[in-house]
Amino acid sequence: MVLGPILVTGGSGQVATAIVAAAGKRTILHVGRPAWDFDNLDALPALLRAAAPSLIINAAAHTAVDRAETESDAAYRANRDAPRILAEYCAAADIPLIHISTDYVFDGSKGAPYEETDATNPTGVYGASKLAGEEAILATGAKAVILRTSWVFSATGKNFLLTMLGAAAKTNKLRVVADQIGCPTAAADLAAAILRIADRISVTGWVPNYGGVFHAAGSGSTSWHGFATAIFAAAEKHGLTPPTVDPIATADWPTPAKRPADSRLNCYKLGKIFGIALPDWRIALARTLNSVYSTPERSAAKTSAA
Ligand SMILES: NC(=O)c1ccc[n+]([C@@H]2O[C@H](COP(=O)([O-])OP(=O)(O)OC[C@H]3O[C@@H](n4cnc5c(N)ncnc54)[C@H](OP(=O)(O)O)[C@@H]3O)[C@@H](O)[C@H]2O)c1
Repeated sequence: MVLGPILVTGGSGQVATAIVAAAGKRTILHVGRPAWDFDNLDALPALLRAAAPSLIINAAAHTAVDRAETESDAAYRANRDAPRILAEYCAAADIPLIHISTDYVFDGSKGAPYEETDATNPTGVYGASKLAGEEAILATGAKAVILRTSWVFSATGKNFLLTMLGAAAKTNKLRVVADQIGCPTAAADLAAAILRIADRISVTGWVPNYGGVFHAAGSGSTSWHGFATAIFAAAEKHGLTPPTVDPIATADWPTPAKRPADSRLNCYKLGKIFGIALPDWRIALARTLNSVYSTPERSAAKTSAA
């Protein structure tokens, strides 16, 4: 286990919250806005020196994919410039950095799960800014593990799972895009993988092949329509009356940012180097829904609907 404090950025975000929840006896410095604001880059070096962590996990990012199209400066500040400053600190202090990136660095045209060595070609500002972040980190020479993940969901925060449950509370008929496929990933599973990597680094010390880009997504894949259908099938066991979910094409659901049609990630390298495979997304979904329906708010909604 990492002995000194692990700095976790990302405030109330899905992955940061899951890391803190899974941290057990590890010493965590959990930071977020307003104190740690990536819009105020000049403040970061002093904050880092004062925190003096032994490892940094960067789970903060400008994640609003559509908004990034019109907030390019803010997206690049949070997704490229702040990670570069974190990595520069890590390089100077000789401590490891675990950073999270995205499947949206790819354009989705490969037609098979992407490997780490495949050519990138982001289709929007969010993906481009995250790719620029990867490159900025690697250029510092820091001991950095960069984990590209995808389609993150959890029982809290903003995500597709909770959006679907919210929509089902309002209507009994939904239209969901069926021609984009990817690998849903539970924030809790990614958090567990991140902490295992931190532990491994602590036990073995830094090994050169830990450095670089890794794909870290839930096992299996589906479309957004398949994901929605599975969410409602699993939620039905908790008393939800499932809505009808009609499949539609991306062209029928225009969004400001273009998304990759097939951003499945091949996670073989994560298994080979760290011995980690994230669970199947369907198992993770069932677990996450148990957690959603055990919150007092949902239990009350169930009771009043019954
Ligand atoms: N969500 C997905 O589907 C997905 C897919 C692929 C990759 N990823 C990557 O996974 C990582 C974690 O994502 P997530 O799903 O946990 O995202 P999230 O729930 O949107 O959380 C991101 C957090 O980043 C913080 N943040 C945003 N802008 C910031 C700024 N300017 N300065 C400082 N903090 C800022 C916010 O924390 P505060 O609470 O402090 O405001 C926010 O809660 C990110 O690197 C993301 O790019 C996510």
